[in-house]
Amino acid sequence: MNTVTITDNRTGKSMECPIKQGVHGPDVIDCQALYKELGMFTFDPAFMTTASCSSKITFIDGDKGILLYRGYPIEQLAENSSYLEVCYLLLYGELPTQTEMEVFTTDIGQHTMLNEGLLRFYNGFRHNSHPMSMLVGVVGALSSYYYDAMDITNPEHRNRSSLRLIAKMPTIAANSHNYLVGRPYVYPRNDIGYVENFLQMMFSTPNRPYETTKIAVKALEIMLILHADHEQNASTSTVRLAGSSQAHPFSCVAGGIATLWGPAHGGANEAVIRMLQEIGDINNIPKYIERFKDKNDPTRLMGFGHRVYKNYDPRAKIIRNICHELLNELDTANQPLFKIAMELERIALEDDYFIKRKLYPNVDFYSGIILSALNIPLNMFTVLFAVGRSVGWVAQWMEMMNEENLRIGRPRQLYVGASKRDYIPVNKR
Ligand code: ACO
Repeated sequence: MNTVTITDNRTGKSMECPIKQGVHGPDVIDCQALYKELGMFTFDPAFMTTASCSSKITFIDGDKGILLYRGYPIEQLAENSSYLEVCYLLLYGELPTQTEMEVFTTDIGQHTMLNEGLLRFYNGFRHNSHPMSMLVGVVGALSSYYYDAMDITNPEHRNRSSLRLIAKMPTIAANSHNYLVGRPYVYPRNDIGYVENFLQMMFSTPNRPYETTKIAVKALEIMLILHADHEQNASTSTVRLAGSSQAHPFSCVAGGIATLWGPAHGGANEAVIRMLQEIGDINNIPKYIERFKDKNDPTRLMGFGHRVYKNYDPRAKIIRNICHELLNELDTANQPLFKIAMELERIALEDDYFIKRKLYPNVDFYSGIILSALNIPLNMFTVLFAVGRSVGWVAQWMEMMNEENLRIGRPRQLYVGASKRDYIPVNKR
């Protein structure tokens, strides 16, 4: 067994920590016995160097720009698969046979509607709520409706809850939008695909059916595939931590949605469009590029750079092509906002500042542009991210719940507060 020796230089006491190897990626030092052996914890705020679990679902190599779902490269899935097939793959580990896919699609279709009681929740939200706050509330409320599958120790119940979530997310999302714009609730349809169904719930009205285009469906489908999972990011880790207490999956996912809402996580695609609106005119781009490069100016080129992908974001390469295809086909490439986006992309990719720092467009640069071209309102961008990511959350939750020795997650701390002191009565303070 390969080990790393950890020695406490103060006492000379040491211990051997086993080195564990994964299939891909860096090895890990298993330091679970550290406290027992040396009486110390590890200190790693923001988990910069901590593997919180072992997982078989998603692999990322940030330096090489690799993203695999269950071993399959994201490029191949985006090119050949559908969002629902990717859901099956992430949940169950293998690509489905044709029959398995038919059964899965039917199962999802059975769960697309919301309980009518749940629909009444919407009326309680303020007229100008952010749809992400509605998503947190309504997904959390799902656990009070589906008592038939509340036993999280039962694998069949766990599976049913997961299917319900994937099926209902588009309905919940579209409904939030309809409530905010004062349109009637549109019921889901099972005779059309998952993406078409979402678009019709978003945009059709009782007096006007929504005609979707092939390219719009393809662009949204690819966007959902690219956002389906991204290993142990902040929202997924939230779902896992909440799930480790054996909470119901809908409550865990509501926590994940709340985490995704933060601008450091799911909000960047919205920030891209706000930035393009602020630039306002193609002639202002050089001035803004100088601001992005100025160390004394906090303004950053939104949609460029990534914490993990330091070479390029493999999702960005895929989504860039479909984004350009969409703009050309919708004949929107010449609209001011998209002209600014394309010119920014061109200049930044040729600029030394961005090249030297390996700052490439990330997936959010293009997903923001795609959603905007599809007339999805800005406040719904992160909601769409959540719809795509819902399968990742439940797949990771199911994987954790299938572990033999599930233990509640409980990080420790380095206490730096006041040392022990005695209480002083108020009249003596
Ligand atoms: N515009 C201008 N300069 C940038 C940008 C940017 N978007 N991103 C990084 N830099 C510069 C930094 O100023 C720094 O320069 P220096 O070395 O001269 O000091 C250098 O590039 C390295 O930047 P870091 O901040 O160390 O990179 P980090 O990994 O911490 O940040 C992040 C990554 C947060 C994504 C950053 O690139 C950023 O803020 N990008 C814009 C926001 C964005 O698009 N976020 C979405 C990420 S993708 C996703 O979440 C799905």
